[in-house]
Amino acid sequence: MPEKILTNEDLSRIVDTSDEWITTRTGIKERRVAAKGEDTSDMATEAALKALEQAKISAKEINLILVATATPDMLFPATACFVQKKIGATNAACLDISAACAGFLFGIEIAQQFITSHTHDTVLVIGADKLTSITNWTDRNTCVLFGDGAGAAILGHRGSAHGVISTHIGSDGQFSDILFMPGGGSRCPITRDNVDLNLATIHMTGKEVYKQAVTAMVSASQKVLADAGLTADDIACVIPHQANLRIIEGIADRLQIPLERFYVNLDKYGNTSAAAVAIALDEANRSGRIKHGDYVLLVVFGGGLTWASTIVEW
Ligand SMILES: CC(C)(COP(=O)(O)OP(=O)(O)OC[C@H]1O[C@@H](n2cnc3c(N)ncnc32)[C@H](O)[C@@H]1OP(=O)(O)O)[C@@H](O)C(=O)NCCC(=O)NCCS
Repeated sequence: MPEKILTNEDLSRIVDTSDEWITTRTGIKERRVAAKGEDTSDMATEAALKALEQAKISAKEINLILVATATPDMLFPATACFVQKKIGATNAACLDISAACAGFLFGIEIAQQFITSHTHDTVLVIGADKLTSITNWTDRNTCVLFGDGAGAAILGHRGSAHGVISTHIGSDGQFSDILFMPGGGSRCPITRDNVDLNLATIHMTGKEVYKQAVTAMVSASQKVLADAGLTADDIACVIPHQANLRIIEGIADRLQIPLERFYVNLDKYGNTSAAAVAIALDEANRSGRIKHGDYVLLVVFGGGLTWASTIVEW
């Protein structure tokens, strides 16, 4: 996580909002903001190095790097290539995944496919985003929601039964216009004339996103539970996308899993997009919240629309 903290109080001095409004509508109290010159690939690199240290392997053993991000350092080359250079993973192929906030679990599914087909056996999956670089700081509907950060995981063959046991990814392009960034791509390059229109920032229809998020994450969770032959009672910990506490409460209610079994850290970080579940998984692991043998359900949702779910036997 970047060091700089932006609190709700700080935001209330930038736009017409309040700590009370943000807390009651979202659960967010503060978020992190990358420093000038701290790029998505820098946060991704920090996360990758911590994952390598924990996995006790060298960067040279990685043969595929997947970076899920909506805020790549540049449109090309892939941010994964910058990470490769920074960590010295000279034997890796590199690509970015564009699935917005759902990207990290898309990465887990892609890694799983490469591993089971024996194409690449040691895969570094990173979720990294610097959403503050595409935030419209005059739009109170969106600027209070997002923050920056990165998380990483290394996947490989396991001797035991433990590991990723069920995955699901899905999309619905019909809703591509409820959460998107209209400018900056080839359809609408940023020009001298349109620069004041804030086109290269997040545009969102909040209420519709909220509704779709709950529906998609509930059905994605039910799908991986059924595929794994498990029920909600078997899940020791749910790690949901960290967008809004009320969305998480809605999912908990519909899945009939007590809220206490959900890992929530959005109060500290806001919505860090593709990084959110990766950061939460790391915190849950390092703090002992998830233990060897636990079934962990990860479930995410993002612009696209995209959604994904994974069950891991830890
Ligand atoms: C954005 C969100 C918190 C807004 O909550 P909401 O209850 O739907 O609020 P509304 O959009 O109905 O806005 C209610 C009022 O609050 C105002 N408002 C919006 N943002 C505000 C803010 N930061 N501070 C104060 N007031 C705000 C609106 O202007 C509106 O005022 P009006 O009634 O005078 O027009 C909620 O819709 C949400 O979380 N959506 C999902 C967003 C998301 O997770 N996106 C990322 C998905 S990966």
